[in-house]
Amino acid sequence: MIEHALMLRAPRSDDRVVIDGAPRFTRIIEIPARHGPVVTARLAVTAEGLVEPAIDGVGVGRDVLSPGWTSYPWRLRVATHDVTARIVAGARHELQLTAGRGWYCGRLGWWGAERLYGDEPGVAAALEITFADGSTLGVVTDATWDVTASAVVRDDLYDGQTIDLTRDGGPSHPPDTERIDATRLVPRIGPPIVRHELISPAEMSTDGPDAVIVDFGQNLVGWTRLRVQGPRGHVLRIRHAEVLEHGTLATRPLRSARAEDIVTLSGGEDVIEPTFTFHGFRYARIEGWDAVEGSVEAVVVGSDLERTGRFSCGDALLDRFHRNVVWSLRGNTVGLPTDCPQRDERLGWTGDIAVFAPTACFLFDMSAFLRDWLADLRAEQRAAQGRVPYVVPDVLRSWTVDPGAEPESAAIWSDAAVWVPWAIWEAYGDVAVLEESYESMSAHVERVCGRLSARGVWEGDFQFGDWLDPTAPPDDPFAAVADRDVIATAALYRSVAIVAQTARVLGRAEDARDAELRADRLRRDFARVYATANGRLRSDAPAVYALAIVSGVLTADAARAAGRRLAELVRTAGHRVNAGFAGAPYLCDALTRTGHLDDAHALMLNVNPPSWLAPVAQGATTIWERWDSLLPDGSVNPGEMTSFNHYALGAVADWMHRVIGGLVPAAPGWARVRIDPRPPAGLPWASTSIDSPHGRIALSWWRDGEGALRAEYEAPDGVEVDIAPAMAGRVKRVDVVTRAAPHRVDG
Ligand code: BGC
Repeated sequence: MIEHALMLRAPRSDDRVVIDGAPRFTRIIEIPARHGPVVTARLAVTAEGLVEPAIDGVGVGRDVLSPGWTSYPWRLRVATHDVTARIVAGARHELQLTAGRGWYCGRLGWWGAERLYGDEPGVAAALEITFADGSTLGVVTDATWDVTASAVVRDDLYDGQTIDLTRDGGPSHPPDTERIDATRLVPRIGPPIVRHELISPAEMSTDGPDAVIVDFGQNLVGWTRLRVQGPRGHVLRIRHAEVLEHGTLATRPLRSARAEDIVTLSGGEDVIEPTFTFHGFRYARIEGWDAVEGSVEAVVVGSDLERTGRFSCGDALLDRFHRNVVWSLRGNTVGLPTDCPQRDERLGWTGDIAVFAPTACFLFDMSAFLRDWLADLRAEQRAAQGRVPYVVPDVLRSWTVDPGAEPESAAIWSDAAVWVPWAIWEAYGDVAVLEESYESMSAHVERVCGRLSARGVWEGDFQFGDWLDPTAPPDDPFAAVADRDVIATAALYRSVAIVAQTARVLGRAEDARDAELRADRLRRDFARVYATANGRLRSDAPAVYALAIVSGVLTADAARAAGRRLAELVRTAGHRVNAGFAGAPYLCDALTRTGHLDDAHALMLNVNPPSWLAPVAQGATTIWERWDSLLPDGSVNPGEMTSFNHYALGAVADWMHRVIGGLVPAAPGWARVRIDPRPPAGLPWASTSIDSPHGRIALSWWRDGEGALRAEYEAPDGVEVDIAPAMAGRVKRVDVVTRAAPHRVDG
């Protein structure tokens, strides 16, 4: 029915918007009594921007930042709420829809753009009521609605929100209306964005005569909730930052995002939440607030994903690292998978989720969330003639590093079209995701294979390569040691091999054979062009060896030689992580697969930067974008890319689950599992579990008096369990594995 609704926008007069700030659209409805009680009432809402529906002044549903961000030209999400309990036969109700700018017309990107999709937010809704006698009543947004101002004077996802609680709605106006292209309307298949939890301050300190710095003890994503009573007209200013630099808010990493909320108090008791913005922060500086009067909490906001995978272990830093991965995942799933949640970016960067998807799909049920995003990816890809954009929704469209050049697919980033559906398939075993994505997966491979050079490799195109290699200077994140073209061809091989496997799963034998032949050819050409006689690869860089090994582009012998060289390079670097976005996620796996497990352990446990645990030792509570986002002297890295909340480098957690935890998926959807913990010598215990589609699978291992591993596991009937030979006779099956078992010193 929402297809019959009209999109409402604040009216314009002489080309100026009549309403100042976020408009509120209202309509009074009289519910007849003659049809008996209301049996069902459903409210469907959508927005170009954000919408907060309310009935009689009370909000509807748990959603915030609804309906999230989609590729608006093709997909507009509709959220449907059951409002049966709120609509009463014989009563008079007021329907309200407050509209925020959100991703539709607020700021997006680092280049100062706003209004990328349109000038003003639009909202549409349909209320459908069924009465006891079977009759129905429908109310849709149309020209009969009114529009007034709300208390929100200004709202922007990056810059923050200004709320004036002394303001009343002012005069009402008829809205501008327009038809909705019904083909764009899609039901919301992913989870809504909700308030996850409230966090109380860990510490508060004064900052000058009139301000307080609140430390929430955790870098998080959302906003503050202030309960405050102050003089009418008094103004509070709340600024946000992820870290302090020499005792003050370090806002430079936010780049141009102001992340400032400004509130004018009503004079009564005010509960303030700026809900048309969000911030990435651990610290809030509140100016004009006497901390004694009232209270403040942080509201953690994000998509309502169900937690499925857990890991804990007897090493405090490793354990905290894992929790940081979880926090970075939560912070970067506000409606779509993003790079970071705080600066002037927060975009659906494809490369970040391409490498992180396996970890994400273990920790949370990502299926519906990612399938929704993949639908946007496919829409954008179709519109770009098969090119998979670097961000989805694609607000970069014609952006290239090289002005004047046409954007082209880039390795790893564009490979998200293949790697993300494959990660979903492996985690949940649901063939539907492969069916939905097959065309997009093969179109990506087809397009890139059409660009191979006469040597049969992917070279010469723009590439992000091993983005943010730690040896690159802070102002040149592209300057990696690893050769971009070698990375690109190895990544392409992985995509071609996955397309071949997908075709097999889908019973497309001919496609599978074609893709297998293509993969063989690519493998031969890769070896001819990039392998040297002594077993090294051209571009003697850890990222190259790591990706070449895990992608499968090397033969078994070549992989062994590459593993030896990788181990040498890693040792020479003192087991520091000398690779960026393309290589780091795969270093530990590449070493493990080629028989250098000790080096993988040393790499994972190293606290000297660049390393995974260095930020943890510096007090990190999320995964940083770069290994040295905070320099050892406590100052913030001067580079442009200095986020403190980027999940990409947390992708190693997938290796932790399998190798340290010992829970190895051996068939899609965990239909089969291998128990094979291979932990570092000093680690006393670890506990890992997954709520798989078949039920809970859990493994806890510890060391007996001689230091040998003992374990117990739990698995539902129907899941095949293989025990690694090294664990034979040392593993017990139990009904329920009780969580971590540090107290057990003997089997
Ligand atoms: C983002 C990254 C992204 C990259 C592309 C950055 O600005 O934050 O995570 O993948 O650009 O190179």
